[in-house]
Amino acid sequence: MRAAIVAKPEERIAFYEAPAGKKVIVAVTGLVLIGYVVAHMLGNLQIFLGRERINAYAELLHRSGPLLWAARLVLLLAVALHIVFTLQLWWSKRRARPVRYVKKVDVPAAYAARTMILTGPLIAAFVIFHVLHLTTGQAGLPFEPLDVYDNVVRGFRIWYVSLAYMVAVSLVGVHVWHGLWSMLHTLGLDDERYRPALERISHAVGVLTALGYLSIPVAVLTGLIGGGVE
Ligand code: HEM
Repeated sequence: MRAAIVAKPEERIAFYEAPAGKKVIVAVTGLVLIGYVVAHMLGNLQIFLGRERINAYAELLHRSGPLLWAARLVLLLAVALHIVFTLQLWWSKRRARPVRYVKKVDVPAAYAARTMILTGPLIAAFVIFHVLHLTTGQAGLPFEPLDVYDNVVRGFRIWYVSLAYMVAVSLVGVHVWHGLWSMLHTLGLDDERYRPALERISHAVGVLTALGYLSIPVAVLTGLIGGGVE
């Protein structure tokens, strides 16, 4: 019986009741950020093709000057809107229901909303550290401008740096998984007929994104890449 698995309207949590416009902004900016995260992961995998390849890729990005800055601005704007509107939605949800339910309604959206508000700030803190590490070289870790290969290998050989990255990219995977699923709901693309398939796709994108990123510190720690780097 289909009705048994669909939450009744009164069971729908406040996350869904928040103003629609804000949710659409969170969804659309989330999509932009997921696009970046997936593209960045695929670009980074070129490290498996060797030093020349990944360094040439970094040089190409840096040489694209105004285009690079335009992309950075879009990204920054997306991050800012995503954070501001998420916090507003979260805050209005808390204000609407200051007393927690004794028994939480465990629909996937409730779980997603709970984990998103935890993984989001952790990912934001990671990105700040990460930009200081590999873009500006101000994290106190080995850094040589435009030598991405050496910077990644020498950084990830430090076990706690690799560990921090592995935890962070796993959180990114969870955030992408739940974010994609919430976004499909917000944009009205979770028609009941396609729901199981869309849930599986969201899950797969999150897991594959995390695995793609995870493969890099694992490859450095196991010596699969980095031969020839002191
Ligand atoms: C194993 C994991 C990762 C590796 C090896 C990696 C590698 C890099 C490298 C080498 C750069 C500097 C590029 C350059 O300036 O030439 C960079 C920049 C950046 N990365 Fe990552 N990254 C990883 C994970 C992530 C994740 C999970 C995110 C987002 C959640 C992310 C977001 C960024 C951002 C925002 C920049 C700055 C881009 C810019 O300068 O415009 N990275 N990354």
